[in-house]
Amino acid sequence: MRPMRITVCCTDTKIQRWLDGLRAALPEADVQEWRPGAAPADHAVVWAPPQQFLDEQQGLRALFNIGAGVDALMKLRLPPDALVVRLDDAGMSVQMAEFACHAVIRHFRELDGYERDVAQGKWTFRKPRSRADFPVGVLGLGVLGRRVAQALAAFEFPVRGWSRSAHAVAGVECFAGSGQFDDFLAGTRVLVNLLPLTPETENILDRRTLGRLRPGGYVINVARGAHLVDADLIALLDSGHLAGAALDVFRTEPLPAEHPFWRHPKIVVTPHTSARTLRDESIAQIAGKIRALERGEPVAGVVDRKKGY
Ligand code: NAP
Ligand code: GLV
Repeated sequence: MRPMRITVCCTDTKIQRWLDGLRAALPEADVQEWRPGAAPADHAVVWAPPQQFLDEQQGLRALFNIGAGVDALMKLRLPPDALVVRLDDAGMSVQMAEFACHAVIRHFRELDGYERDVAQGKWTFRKPRSRADFPVGVLGLGVLGRRVAQALAAFEFPVRGWSRSAHAVAGVECFAGSGQFDDFLAGTRVLVNLLPLTPETENILDRRTLGRLRPGGYVINVARGAHLVDADLIALLDSGHLAGAALDVFRTEPLPAEHPFWRHPKIVVTPHTSARTLRDESIAQIAGKIRALERGEPVAGVVDRKKGY
């Protein structure tokens, strides 16, 4: 019997480290970087593969995406019978919680203002603000959103969350479905976006929805750039309805040099770094799942192709 074949097709310049790690974790397998015309593999480890890869590898049993978001993959023609498996935390949720809490607290405690003052040699105080005036709303209560909501609740912010199906999360007021979206928004001042990008959620952060946030709202987008209508955000910042935004993801990445987000005084830009794929954790998770699938066992993190996440 031939050994199990695993093909790796990703844009990571350090692909050799993925190959070495997978070979060490699965010594029984034949792990190779994909090349056009390669023999059919049983499992694939991918990030942003070309369509040619998928067309050639129609017999895959599973495609492991080395990220949490599968939006780019879902736009391609996938092998019809392959399971699509996303990274299931693998060290991302704690990073996302750190990042979101930092962004919320930086805004709430006016640390940006203190940084500006100190840079000018000013020893000034601002009046402490009340947490009750800063309800935080988390869009998406999945692997990352739930962890972020719980981390913010631990800092005693009033926290609310919105998801497609109903959830119960300790310390979080939960809303579900389009029928409760406006109520969720109306009680939110700081919005953290952790939705997957799907046809239903594309452009969801627009003039109408962001306009429903409480006055002085703040937007933290750590999900995907195409959730946000860029011009609508700028208009609401310039009108004063929104106080600011922390943006980690963009429609075009890297963010083009001429994009107004770079220079807007109320926007903080970071380069898609809020929750990085951690190679060792990811390899251990994927290797464990490949072994489970080979034993005929179910695995967590399987994408529902109809829902798109
Ligand atoms: P997840 O576990 O799939 O959770 C998605 C959540 O969104 C679920 O609660 C889901 O509701 C909800 N949702 C989906 N469609 C909805 C809709 N139409 N209306 C209302 N709620 C909806 O995803 P995750 O692991 O938390 O990751 C979320 C996203 O974060 C990823 O897709 C990716 O784009 C982004 N991300 C960004 C970075 C970064 O560095 N910036 C890193 C990792 C991930 P149900 O619970 O009812 O299904
Ligand atoms: C990063 O953005 C991911 O989806 O893992």
